[in-house]
Amino acid sequence: MQRLALAWKRSGTRVGFVPTMGYLHEGHVSLARDARRRVGKSGIVVVSIYVNPTQFAPTEDLSRYPRDWARDTKSCREAGVDVVFAPTDASMYAGRDAGRYSTYVVEESLAKGMEGASRPAHFRGVTTVVAKLFNVVLPDVAVFGAKDWQQAAVIRRMVADLNFPLKIVVAPTWREADGLAMSSRNAYLSPAERSQAVVLARVLAEARASVRKSRGPVQASSLRARLEAMVAVQPDARLDYLEFFDPETMVPTERVGRGTHLALAVFVGKTRLIDNGRL
Ligand code: PAJ
Repeated sequence: MQRLALAWKRSGTRVGFVPTMGYLHEGHVSLARDARRRVGKSGIVVVSIYVNPTQFAPTEDLSRYPRDWARDTKSCREAGVDVVFAPTDASMYAGRDAGRYSTYVVEESLAKGMEGASRPAHFRGVTTVVAKLFNVVLPDVAVFGAKDWQQAAVIRRMVADLNFPLKIVVAPTWREADGLAMSSRNAYLSPAERSQAVVLARVLAEARASVRKSRGPVQASSLRARLEAMVAVQPDARLDYLEFFDPETMVPTERVGRGTHLALAVFVGKTRLIDNGRL
């Protein structure tokens, strides 16, 4: 992959890149289309499919993460993707179990709260694998989804701090007809859980409506109580976190107004779902 990428560089070909863990849905495909628009017909669009072990905790769903190579490559072909890069664990982390892999990339500020607080080693795995993928694919532009807002912010910071010579683009969240954000993990949901999962989108809509109809900023604590109650009435849903924050700095805020972001993580049965949006 790196040899190919170096040849593209030498010939002045622009490279757009979408890193994924596979089991692709319309959200992923929209990122590939965005990458294509940015590099043009003469550019190259690369999608990576790699279920990165270092961003999963031992208790998480690494071994049962959904995979469908035939469907993924078909989606990529239909979306006009030029190259699917699907490395093996052995090539990405050779000798990790034997202690012969020992370099990690850690962002120490934006990665602390929310997903970072709930999943302590998660962002270290994400920044490490994304840095490695950037060094192998050598993209001019990489496209990430707003669905994982904090992840995009952490990667943007990593790219600035470590002088990666590429542009980061954040593209909108794609949703099912009822509002549920598309996610590979939605495949885990039973029919009963699937209907309860829409609560994440409903919480966002309710928060947005409250902010829009209020004249000044709203107090986070009172809004939070109402939103938490919406989750609590779902028999199989359990709130992990719900946070109001500044979308640039990720700093939590007590005064919630237009432009404030809301992010939440909810277990629906055993499946952990996240969503976020601007209020
Ligand atoms: P994955 O969850 O497969 O997501 C790959 C990319 O698709 C991410 O940028 C994510 O934000 C975006 N995405 C997911 N659901 C989306 C939706 N409904 N609408 C728009 N974009 C969506 O995120 C990862 O993989 C990994 O952490 C990775 C960055 C690949 C590193 O391993």
